[in-house]
Amino acid sequence: MIYQPVKGTHDLFGEEMEGMRYIRDVFSATVELYSYRQIMPPVLEYTEVFSRGAGSSSDVVRKEMYTFLDKGDRSVTMRPEFTAGVVRSVVSNKLYATEDLPLKLYYCGPAFRYERPQLGRYRQFHQFGVEEIGADNARCDAECIIMAMQSLYMLGFQKLSLKINSIGDDDSRRSYRDALTKYFSAHLDEMCDDCHERIRLNPLRILDCKVAHDQEIAKGAPKIKDYLSEASEKRFYETLSIINDLGIEYEIDDSLVRGLDYYSEVVFEIHAIGANGTDYGALCGGGHYGGLVKELGGPDLAGVGYAMGMERVYGVAKEDGLLKDLDHGIDFYVIPVGEEVLDDVFNIVEEIRSLGFSCDTPLANVKLGSAFKKAERRHAKFALIIGQDELDRGVAQLKDLSTKTQKEIDLTKLEEELDHAIAPYEEEDDGCHHDHHEAVEEKKE
Ligand code: HAM
Repeated sequence: MIYQPVKGTHDLFGEEMEGMRYIRDVFSATVELYSYRQIMPPVLEYTEVFSRGAGSSSDVVRKEMYTFLDKGDRSVTMRPEFTAGVVRSVVSNKLYATEDLPLKLYYCGPAFRYERPQLGRYRQFHQFGVEEIGADNARCDAECIIMAMQSLYMLGFQKLSLKINSIGDDDSRRSYRDALTKYFSAHLDEMCDDCHERIRLNPLRILDCKVAHDQEIAKGAPKIKDYLSEASEKRFYETLSIINDLGIEYEIDDSLVRGLDYYSEVVFEIHAIGANGTDYGALCGGGHYGGLVKELGGPDLAGVGYAMGMERVYGVAKEDGLLKDLDHGIDFYVIPVGEEVLDDVFNIVEEIRSLGFSCDTPLANVKLGSAFKKAERRHAKFALIIGQDELDRGVAQLKDLSTKTQKEIDLTKLEEELDHAIAPYEEEDDGCHHDHHEAVEEKKE
């Protein structure tokens, strides 16, 4: 029996693993420029954290959670998203009292949703996200949105579509919900069973219904913009004006309400289509949340945040050719010639690593040709060949695998010799596309 991964989950290795790691590094470096610090809440939380946090009317909570009773009969859930868990962590650790506000937190890790698997949609996927907690104004919302865009620009994306909307404060949403209930009640007979429940729980959720006929009906529904309070409208236009001043393009999408219940005021999504036209869905989703910290037992603090879908970002970035040459390989591949030198070579390899160079060796006596092939497949910059004769003379043969030139080096001056050999490659690396500052400068121009 050969086991396959559980449906909707996938193994990360090779090129995809390298790509995801690179994306995570670029995102972390970007948000650290904005003074964010990492947090890592557990994968498992008591179910209530999500049912109260993400909201009992959301599809995520109603249908998609991996929830089970643990051996102590407690209902626990594998996180379907991070926001509720991060806020729970801020409240249980009283970070709002011990740290300066606003708290600026970022995270990266797996999340789980029992969804129908398809392109860009998995049951275990990875999110990179941020939460800024304890600040509540248009500038704060704008900074968060700008940071999401900047993170994707840093990766090299050129064409992004930022969709943005305001779902207003509590008063705005209350009157909007009434208007939606009235509108959808007249069409309910034609709508799916789920929408019958949605109208009872939260009619806003009907706007996310995936059934084609229901979507047609939803097109004629009242728009939130006509129900925004004066304060919400003012705040929304302030946010837009800050984003606009930075030259970031956006599209107001008045049907965007987002599928989680904690949102208020501004909400947004970022979409990108791959080079060959493939649509992986939204790369990023987020928004402001006014009541979540209090809902989870904390003080009355607002927050704003977003999460990127790592697999989706990877899919589009790969198609766009933004992830080339990520495998920089190793610095040295040490080739022992003959059984009798294996012990000494083993020690030399450890010494090379302790000098800070990446290094590998076959750990067994293999044929020279096969060892060179291994060195190439590992993208080693140099091969270091050591036989008994070399050991007796305290030297090694150093072969540059790109220029194919070879010279003898002195093993008693190992650090100096290897530093000298690697120096031209390090200069080359400095000019490569990993330079984040350069990416920002280019974008500004
Ligand atoms: P979300 O829109 O549910 O928001 O998810 C954010 C992103 O995660 C999506 O835009 C998508 O890229 C990715 N994603 C979601 N579900 C899947 C899936 N099944 N497979 C692959 N990727 C997926 C949130 O989770 C909020 N917590 C974001 C947030 C943070 N809002 C405020 N702070």
